[in-house]
Amino acid sequence: MEQPPAKILIVFPKSGQSCEVDYDDTLVDATFRYDLPIRYRCERAVCTTCMTEVLEGLENLSSPNERETKTLKTVGAAANYRLACQCSVYGDVKLDYIPITDPRRKPVSSNDNPL
Ligand code: FES
Repeated sequence: MEQPPAKILIVFPKSGQSCEVDYDDTLVDATFRYDLPIRYRCERAVCTTCMTEVLEGLENLSSPNERETKTLKTVGAAANYRLACQCSVYGDVKLDYIPITDPRRKPVSSNDNPL
């Protein structure tokens, strides 16, 4: 059986920030520890503040749970977008945080807002 990597590299190419974390760390834990450019609020897959584009390594994140899947579908997120508050890392990833005002986010009607 293959051993998990000793250290996992998280890179934000646009800002040049990076850090090394342990296998199964969460992106929110890494953000808190290394001041990564991800903002978050609810940590419950509700507010979408933490929406992040996965540029590389989508397969190296934990699978979306039911709540994350529902929220991402509600806001019409692209297939490579994840809610960082729900992700554990199992291998190297390259990420780009999507601020709440970023035009890459699709506008949603007030009826669709998961809040
Ligand atoms: S912090 Fe609210 S959805 Fe992730």
